Amino acid sequence: MTLRELPKLELHLHIEGAAPPAFIRGLAQEKSVDLSKIFKEDGSYDFRDFVHFLSVYEAATSVLKSPEDYARLVRANLEESAAHGVIYTEMFISPDFCGGSDVEAWRDYLHAMQEAAAEAEAKDGIVMRGIVTCIRHFGPEKAKASALCAAETAGDWITGFGIGGDEGKGALGDFAWSFDLAREAGLRLTAHAGEWGGPASVRQALDDIGVERIGHGVRAIEDLALVERLAEDGVVLEVCPGSNVVLGLYPKWDRHPIQALRERGVKVTVSTDDPPFFHTTMTREYEELARAFGWGTADFLEISRNALDAAFCDADTKARLADRLKDHPE
Ligand code: HPA
Ligand code: ZN
Repeated sequence: MTLRELPKLELHLHIEGAAPPAFIRGLAQEKSVDLSKIFKEDGSYDFRDFVHFLSVYEAATSVLKSPEDYARLVRANLEESAAHGVIYTEMFISPDFCGGSDVEAWRDYLHAMQEAAAEAEAKDGIVMRGIVTCIRHFGPEKAKASALCAAETAGDWITGFGIGGDEGKGALGDFAWSFDLAREAGLRLTAHAGEWGGPASVRQALDDIGVERIGHGVRAIEDLALVERLAEDGVVLEVCPGSNVVLGLYPKWDRHPIQALRERGVKVTVSTDDPPFFHTTMTREYEELARAFGWGTADFLEISRNALDAAFCDADTKARLADRLKDHPE
């Protein structure tokens, strides 16, 4: 079995960030929006650094204007993920971009996305779940509106609540009201931390908003007492190595701390974050990890089991996915 064919579970994927550039260019053309400044000549997304990436991301997202656009996006993303062996994916979805965090509009977007996901599951066997995500640099008031959307639609398909955006803005504790509401609605919680913020930001995610998973979290390696805590408490990291390398957090794949975290007992998983932005795919992540750290099928199986344990879907779905992982050669 090739690395591409190995069954994979992905826990950290931004729905708009997975949009192929050609898909966004097509929508821009249909809607007569000039997006030429966000693309390089070779057609890929053009950005200088993380903060510029966020603004390019929002410009690309601006052409997604209707539930049907998001249904098309879900189809495109799931087809691409399935082609790389992904059997289960959790996508971050922001009500801010899907109807401006109005609950009734959000329901329409959700309905369209869910229908597209059900079609993709029937066609390619890939299972999708949604994590509602607020955007840190939009501030705590906007986050409350997103959390209300999340709480109203919590269930089998919207299974989690999280926060992305600029880690340099505000403190995670400012969003505690939203995370409390989501928790009370039965949603599972994750937050971006320990990417641009150091170990203290990971502690804040655990202590100030009570999340069970951390998006990235890799900079925990700078504080070994924190690493020990993550290992002891079984906190799972949604690690996106290719994203970290492209954004310059680590100079090369073999300098990435994923292996060191794993050796110290931290449960790590592997995701792509915003794959076309970072010139990656799940296959490419696996290939680079195999090359940098000598990982083989047994290592990738451990990663998949970590992801399955930490997935926010229900027990029946997990049992179905576990069956499919059994085909995975040791
Ligand atoms: N990181 C943080 N926020 C984001 C990202 C990301 O990679 N993509 C979209 N919002
Ligand atoms: Zn992310």
